[in-house]
Amino acid sequence: LTGGATGAALGVGATLAATLGSRAFAGDPDPASATPAPFGGEALACHGPHQAGIVSAPAAHARYVAYSLRKATDRAALVRMFRILTGDIEALTQGVAPLADPEPELAERPARLTITVGVGPVLVERVDAGLRPAWLAPLPAFARDQLGAGYDGGDLVVLVQSDDPLALAHACRMLDRDLASFAERAWVQQGFRQARGAEQAGSTMRNLMGQVDGTVNPAPADNDFAQLVWLGDEAGWLAGGSALVLRRIRMELDTWDMVDRPGREQTIGRTLADGAPLTGGTEHTPVDFDAKTAAGLPVIASFAHVRRAHSEDPTERIFRRAVNYDDGTESGLLFGCYQRDPLRQFVPIQQRLDELDLLNEWVTHVGSAVFAMLPGFRPGELLGASLLK
Ligand code: HEM
Repeated sequence: LTGGATGAALGVGATLAATLGSRAFAGDPDPASATPAPFGGEALACHGPHQAGIVSAPAAHARYVAYSLRKATDRAALVRMFRILTGDIEALTQGVAPLADPEPELAERPARLTITVGVGPVLVERVDAGLRPAWLAPLPAFARDQLGAGYDGGDLVVLVQSDDPLALAHACRMLDRDLASFAERAWVQQGFRQARGAEQAGSTMRNLMGQVDGTVNPAPADNDFAQLVWLGDEAGWLAGGSALVLRRIRMELDTWDMVDRPGREQTIGRTLADGAPLTGGTEHTPVDFDAKTAAGLPVIASFAHVRRAHSEDPTERIFRRAVNYDDGTESGLLFGCYQRDPLRQFVPIQQRLDELDLLNEWVTHVGSAVFAMLPGFRPGELLGASLLK
């Protein structure tokens, strides 16, 4: 845009705003003076004790791509596969085109691109069946599950996140091309949060039901975060990795929209306006599970999602990192969560929710997968080296 064109565009915007009645929110930059920052050039380090993309500030877009290994992909082929993956990750996340990229310009602006890789039970067993942890298997069945829609399991998962959907699409295409001789795509799930800049950085996400989602969650700065999320030395080749549970949870938004606002707030136990507990305060005020109404009933109902999901045992917690999905016909939550041991952390929580949670009237689990997210890697090292050595 030339200066004149920009002025003209602003003029149109200002006229429209005046006509429609625009509303400024506290903390929003002055629209007249704000120049959007060109964040496309931002690159996140891909090396470290843990893979990038698990605790980094969530990006606006996320795509999970699961693969099934080809029959011929043996241990030696896996070494070659991880060598190529490592090179692709080191290039793409840094805004560098990977080898023989036909569209190198599309790799230049990663917009905080991360690529996080996890392995399923079959891949580990191709290397050595003795290396598979007990939790790396399909989860026990839950009564309300409606799996089988094509989003279950997988031998390899690649989670690509970026603030720019173009960078993300290009990275996925390059990874797909480079993985093709080793594996074929099993499923793809695309998710999103609010666009970068639409909210103050660090705000808790809103899901498609309108709820503030992700408030009570272990934070990387917490003393017990590592014990909850990162596998330790006892996990052998997985030390520094983490267990990912990914559930595709469909939402019935048409019937949800018919519930009145108090009903929708009681379903969760928090307000829709700012996610504060119904027992008072603001978003981060602890929920008072003992509070009673004047009539002596619990303020947070026995069926409320936060009461059922809350763990009394602090070692039973999970690190939630959900994104929304909406493919035009179906919408919901790609509920990804990290932990040391899904059987001790995710499963007991989900058992409680499966048994009783008013939210179940409008949500159904239609996909389920468990992956061992690999430990991080340093420059000169191979991603997955501890598994393949
Ligand atoms: C809390 C929504 C599924 C575990 C919450 C909150 C919302 C919410 C709005 C309150 C704010 C917060 O602390 O984040 C949803 C929706 C779901 C869903 C819409 C499905 C579509 C699940 C599942 C699990 C889970 C499958 C785990 C098995 C939790 C936990 C909390 C929570 C642990 C915090 C509880 C506490 O206060 O201690 N969820 N959730 N949620 N949810 Fe969910």
